Amino acid sequence: PKVFYTQPDGAVKVIDGTVGDSVMSTAVRHGVAGIVGQCGGTLSCATCHVYLDPAEMDNFAEPTEDEDDMLECTASDREDNSRLSCQLTLSDGIDVHVTVPDEQV
Ligand code: FES
Repeated sequence: PKVFYTQPDGAVKVIDGTVGDSVMSTAVRHGVAGIVGQCGGTLSCATCHVYLDPAEMDNFAEPTEDEDDMLECTASDREDNSRLSCQLTLSDGIDVHVTVPDEQV
């Protein structure tokens, strides 16, 4: 699946992701600016915050309680479509569009 990362200035980076990887690890591996993933995906940093395309919210399971708690700790404001990208796992044939927030730390 392809992952489309949009920066706050509108620049888009498209990456061919691997099924089973997270949107966070895909970004880190390919040097996408603005996705830090400091804790390595263990839900303890919130530096992988993204805004998920509202049309794609249903492609993923609802945030767990732990993710929901961490979403209160993001550097940029939480929105209805805020997710922690380490919790978004790529599935076969399902492209993902996310926008990176202004600040992560
Ligand atoms: Fe730390 Fe997602 S990488 S919460």
